[in-house]
Amino acid sequence: MDPQEILSLCKRRGFLWPAYDIYGSVAGLYDYGPLGTAMKNSIENYWRQLYVLGEGFIEINCPVVAPEPVFKASGHVDAFSDMYVECNSCGETYRADHLAADKHPNPASLNEEQLGKVLKEIGAKCLECGGELTSPKRFNLMFKTSIGAGRGKVAYLRPETAQGMFVNFSQMYRYGREKLPFGAVQVGRAFRNEISPRQGLLRLREFNMMEAELFVHPEDKTWPKFKDVKGEVLPLVPNSGDSRSMSLDDAVNEKIIRNEVLAYFVWLTFKFAVDIGMDPKRLRLRQHIKTEMAHYASDCWDLEAELGYGWTELVGVADRGSYDVQAHIDHSGADLTAFERFEEPKEIEQEVVKPNFGALGPLFRGEAKMVSEALAGLSTEKVKGKKEVTVDLDGKKFVVPASCYEVVRKIEKVSGRKLVPHVIEPSYGVDRMLYAVLDHSYVKKEDYVTLRLKPIVAPIKAGVFPLMPRDGLDTIALEIFDELTRSGITAYYDDSGSIGRRYARMDEVGTPCCITVDYDSKDDHSVTIRDRDSTSQIRVKKDHVLEAVKALMDGVGFESLAKMK
Ligand code: GLY
Repeated sequence: MDPQEILSLCKRRGFLWPAYDIYGSVAGLYDYGPLGTAMKNSIENYWRQLYVLGEGFIEINCPVVAPEPVFKASGHVDAFSDMYVECNSCGETYRADHLAADKHPNPASLNEEQLGKVLKEIGAKCLECGGELTSPKRFNLMFKTSIGAGRGKVAYLRPETAQGMFVNFSQMYRYGREKLPFGAVQVGRAFRNEISPRQGLLRLREFNMMEAELFVHPEDKTWPKFKDVKGEVLPLVPNSGDSRSMSLDDAVNEKIIRNEVLAYFVWLTFKFAVDIGMDPKRLRLRQHIKTEMAHYASDCWDLEAELGYGWTELVGVADRGSYDVQAHIDHSGADLTAFERFEEPKEIEQEVVKPNFGALGPLFRGEAKMVSEALAGLSTEKVKGKKEVTVDLDGKKFVVPASCYEVVRKIEKVSGRKLVPHVIEPSYGVDRMLYAVLDHSYVKKEDYVTLRLKPIVAPIKAGVFPLMPRDGLDTIALEIFDELTRSGITAYYDDSGSIGRRYARMDEVGTPCCITVDYDSKDDHSVTIRDRDSTSQIRVKKDHVLEAVKALMDGVGFESLAKMK
């Protein structure tokens, strides 16, 4: 569906407004109006229903601003960038890889020099004024800020919610009584200073994410609930190029999806998209090619939807391995490991750090014992090959030269081992999901627009109309409206204009049903319920309206409802 038509409806009817419009607006920033906010809330709440209630993930909520070391560790300071070119005449900027999109299979994988060469070869010019373009330069996509006055601390607005969950691994692990696997989710804002956002809701500078991080034992490739869904068939586009619909079981057995855990969450992602109203025929799951993957991922499957913009990524289900947790261990020195208890204690030979008391004593005197205990607790990976190591004791740092310790092999009886968990991450773009639902629900016949939103995401669940705003019809309609809203069902009361106009207004914003009180209602205590998609109508007793609307919201189809009444 034409994006301009959808965005125009969104603006006209209060789904979305360009932010700061009275000041000329800013590309990549949108306000959600009342209907958009309600729809976004519904999408997020249903997602929580699947992940928090359905899968038992815990939900946390972290700050959107974080000090630089967090994103230094995560790799975003060094690697989270795109290339841009600027017009020498008018100053317009462009994502450099986008300008080469039709001429190269994967321009984002090129370096500045290679991409510059491609742009030269194809004669790329400014799309606004035809001016010459600069050569490509890298641009970090994080918004930089500082925390505190004066020099403050360099900080960034988070480009993903995920890091908040990685840095809190130990807190969450303890909260969950030290068991793997466990999952955590976060729903909230993230920020990317996109170079040239031109695609409405698809590329925002401030956007909404729903991210789940599943922490698993590194060797565990199985998933208990996989058996319940393994026969499900999904449209897969593996990076080998052999696209086909296949069962999850076949995909795992043929090693197209690398394990059951990843396959299960790929399936859950597809189910979520269909449940909130996307057309399964316009969805596919595409595996990233190696050069396309984010710096932290070892595998990634995107849920893509066919939209007016073409095939568009909505969700990435990535295998992040131990990348992030290990990176935070390395950079912060915190022990973000899980403990695997063996069934029986085992004698194992392992490398340990052995303090050298002879050297520590003269150097650290009264504090030598504390330093030696800290050294003995270090992992050998931290000291190997280093000339010195810094240990932190209650905020006091001690630089310990390599002469004060050695790495030795020792046979020890151990009850378990420490391990760094691996992470599977389904990461959903809320705004993109919402847009995709609008695109797949938009039906236009001649000039009549209906948004065929499923009740679960429809911002208004029922319209309530008195045929005339008088003669007691309004009193009955208001009683129904009150009953619905008191029960938590968002309804819209409208008593102005022709009834056809009122239906049209509700159809255009996706309201699944409308309830009309007419003159017969006063005698037979019944009202009409009209179905948005078929426009057919049934009469139900006023006392049964709430039950009928609830049934529609629970997914009972209008035809079945007609038979039930
Ligand atoms: N956490 C996934 C992403 O940043 O896209």
